[in-house]
Formats: sequence, structure tokens, C-alpha cells
Amino acid sequence: MTGGDRPHGPPRRFAVLVSGTGSNLQALLDRAATGVLAPAEIVAVASNRPEAAALDRARAAGVPAIALDHRSFPSREAFEDALLAALAPHAPDAIVLAGFMRVLTPRFLGAFPDRVINTHPSLLPAFAGAGAIEQALAYGVTITGCTVHFVDAGVDQGPIIAQRAVPIAPGDDATIVRARIQAAEHALVPAVVRALAQGRISCEGRRVVVVPGGDPDDADQLL
Ligand code: GRF
Repeated sequence: MTGGDRPHGPPRRFAVLVSGTGSNLQALLDRAATGVLAPAEIVAVASNRPEAAALDRARAAGVPAIALDHRSFPSREAFEDALLAALAPHAPDAIVLAGFMRVLTPRFLGAFPDRVINTHPSLLPAFAGAGAIEQALAYGVTITGCTVHFVDAGVDQGPIIAQRAVPIAPGDDATIVRARIQAAEHALVPAVVRALAQGRISCEGRRVVVVPGGDPDDADQLL
């Protein structure tokens, strides 16, 4: 089953879907290890690419790592059904997309209503879709950033939870900008996950309300 045993409270049991390096996953695992993510916990990590380095990060942290190659399924729906079945024993009640390079259909999203979040490397709605950093550089913007948002059926279109701006200086290339954006994401994604678990984030239509945490000892506090 999905939804854990707390269907009406805030989500606490987060599964992370990944496809690649997993630096955002690592930021979550590091904070979980030191107790900073509580009351959120990372209960499973799943990748559509079995060779993803992110799976090794999960294993190293003692978190169940699920490898499901989407190419071995006849359809997007069949892959999502298998993904849901593989996650079910871990009873996640929310999903973090952290560099997960597959579009999810309403079939998967419907299992976690308003409980799937994604991090995107631009200030949405600018530069949605693939290659957001390259798009920003090509356009010539001097400020870009990252967006953590709820996932709906559109690509990078769901309600925005939090954003952080990142400057682009003359001569910066994609590698430099990506590193700058990822540093911002590595703080923002865990902060959103924790705020969700603390029940401080609500959503009415497109408008997301975040109640400030107010912990003065928390160096990571962004929300
Ligand atoms: C992140 O920068 C995120 O914005 C994008 O994919 C990247 C994943 O990086 N969706 P990592 O795998 O977490 O290092």
C-alpha cells in the first residue's frame, strides 16, 4: 500500500526518485543522518537507470535502493505500476523527484495526491523542460535559480513551493552555473521536505502557503 499509516496527517515517509548523480539525494541523506530532516525520513530510493550513482549513495546510507529500468517495460503505465509495487513495501507517503528524468502520468501521481515534489534548475515558469541551464545561458539572463514545486500532469508546471535566485556573471559557463544552482538546491530541497513533514506547507489551487519554521538555531532554515 501507499500512504503509510497516516493518510490524513502531513507526509513523513519520503521516497526519492532519481536517474543520475544524486547530489540532491545526498543532501537529503546527510540531513536525515544528522536528524536535521526530522520528522521526515527517507524510506526508499528508486531509479529508472540501474547504473545511476544515486543508487550507490542510497545503499551507502542503508536506505533501500530500487533499480527499475524503464526500457524493460512495454509502456509508461507498466513501468509506473512496477514502480508503485516496488515502493509499496516501504509505505512512502510522499515522493521527491531529484533528477528523475521520466515524466510521471496521472496513474502514478494519483497514488500520492499533492505529495509529489520536484526540483528544477531554473526560476519557473522560465526555462521549463530539459536543458534549463543551457536555455538560461542562451537567453542571456543574469539571474536564474532553482524551483521546488508540486508535480502535476504538466512538465515543470505545478504550484511553486519555494525558489532561490542564482546570479549568472559574464563568462560563466553551464558547469559553473550548475554548481551554483545545485548548492542552492542542496539547501532548499531538504528545507521543503522538512517543512512538508512538519505540516507547514499547504496548497490552494496554484497558491502555496508556507508557515515559517522560526527555529533560530537552524542554520539550514530557509523556509
Ligand atoms: C538537479 O539539478 C535538478 O534541478 C535537476 O536534475 C539535477 C539532479 O542532480 N532536475 P543530482 O542528480 O541531484 O545531482
